Amino acid sequence: MRFSGKRAAVTGGASGIGRATALRLAGEGAEVWVGDIDDAGGKELAETSNGRIHFQHTDVTQAGDIESLVSAVDAAGGLDVLFNNAGAGGARASIDEITPDEWDRTQALLLRSVALGIRYAAPLMAKRGGGAIVNTSSVSALGSGYAPTAYSVAKAGVLHLTTIAAADLARHRIRVNAVVPGFITTNIFTSTLGLDGEKRDAANAAIGQIAARAQPVQRAGRPEDIAAAVAYLASEDAAFVNGTHILVDGGMLIGQRHSWDESMPSMFSQLEAFAS
Ligand code: NAI
Repeated sequence: MRFSGKRAAVTGGASGIGRATALRLAGEGAEVWVGDIDDAGGKELAETSNGRIHFQHTDVTQAGDIESLVSAVDAAGGLDVLFNNAGAGGARASIDEITPDEWDRTQALLLRSVALGIRYAAPLMAKRGGGAIVNTSSVSALGSGYAPTAYSVAKAGVLHLTTIAAADLARHRIRVNAVVPGFITTNIFTSTLGLDGEKRDAANAAIGQIAARAQPVQRAGRPEDIAAAVAYLASEDAAFVNGTHILVDGGMLIGQRHSWDESMPSMFSQLEAFAS
């Protein structure tokens, strides 16, 4: 019960990683406010939480919505934890085709939202002597080939923002860290493709199978895997962890695929075959 008596705000908490984290924090004693644009999902979660989770409609591209979410937690007794997590795939165009508007909308959803979450939470945490902020980045922040361009750049921005904000807020005893998920089976892929109903269910089943083979740990990444890391970073167990990130990717970024996947020939094995 690491969060007994604590209050947390979780953006994007109606689904996937945010939902699993809201449940994890509540399960460890926190009272949680979920902010999301998915009113049905958010309300359903709140209704089945025995009063531990509240829902407030929040569009993280709207500064006023973010301020209102953290203010609601403050008014209930004080904000201890903020998880800046809401997101979607954003624009899928490459850098030579993306429009200015697509670029701006993607950065607003994935990077500006995190900056504003920190902006509005920090004074509330400062006045009660500190707090913990966790931001969701992505393996796409660390290399190409994992996600679209605008998304990847925004997630890299989240990592740097995490470091700089941790420095800015150290004087208020506020820690800021990030979690870097690998391939996690959530609705983000089908919602980015605009699929719903039976098509979404079929695509999600296929995504589960692909995800199980995407990294050295041979099973699909789960929202709960990320929730466990977020709960650690937000807790007193991580009291000496600040301005950094935790990679939770089943080893996806461990190195070249052939180093752990026997079916992939390495450059050396191709040379050996050529020489023999
Ligand atoms: P998800 O689609 O299950 O959940 C995302 C939630 O964010 C949804 O409930 C959605 O309604 C909400 N949301 C979208 N736009 C919003 C807005 N403008 N305002 C408020 N809420 C909004 O997806 P998932 O995977 O749980 O995504 C959570 C975070 O994890 C995102 O930031 C995503 O970029 C990140 N991530 C996910 C990975 C994955 O493999 N699933 C990998 C790396 C990062």
